[in-house]
Amino acid sequence: MSFITLFFFFTLCFILFFTITEQKFSEQYPATKAAALEKEKTTHLHFYFHDIVSGKHPSTVSVAGTKNAFGNVVIIDDPLTEGHEPKSKIVGRAQGSYAFSSEDKACLLMVMTFAFEEGKYNGSSVSVLGRNRFLENVREMPIVGGSGIFRFGRGYALAKTVRYNVKTGDAVVEYNMFVMHY
Ligand SMILES: *[C@@H]1O[C@H](CO)[C@@H](O)[C@H](O)[C@H]1NC(C)=O
Repeated sequence: MSFITLFFFFTLCFILFFTITEQKFSEQYPATKAAALEKEKTTHLHFYFHDIVSGKHPSTVSVAGTKNAFGNVVIIDDPLTEGHEPKSKIVGRAQGSYAFSSEDKACLLMVMTFAFEEGKYNGSSVSVLGRNRFLENVREMPIVGGSGIFRFGRGYALAKTVRYNVKTGDAVVEYNMFVMHY
């Protein structure tokens, strides 16, 4: 092989190598675990969730199955307020769905985005995915992610029913959320 041939061969390898590495699929950053831990914060959020089933402006709509029966799927856009009264200041909305996921009808699968509107949290959200045995006093649900301030979010939510109208089905639920995020 002549020098020229070798030269072209290595140039080609060089070009190929850089073309390939430039288009890589993923990249890792050298942030150490210690540095990440230092920056990590925990935010505690406290608010009330209004599940309005009755009246002219319900915040829930049943989209499948029979109401309150196993298999019933409900889409929600529930207001979240600072205090427990319905007229209390709105701090966000819980949007998503819940499904009656047990044959004893006492268990819900909750899939919700809590979109906040209050102060510096306006535009940030927390994603909750979990099991809600709503007849129990306090239910714990995992926080599986977040956006904005809650990017990289994880944690847990504690839900406690403070008012339930047996006739209408309307409920007010107190939420305490503990979110770890950067
Ligand atoms: C939240 O942000 C939106 C969009 O930027 C804005 O229209 C709205 O007024 C804000 N709400 C509050 C309560 O600050």
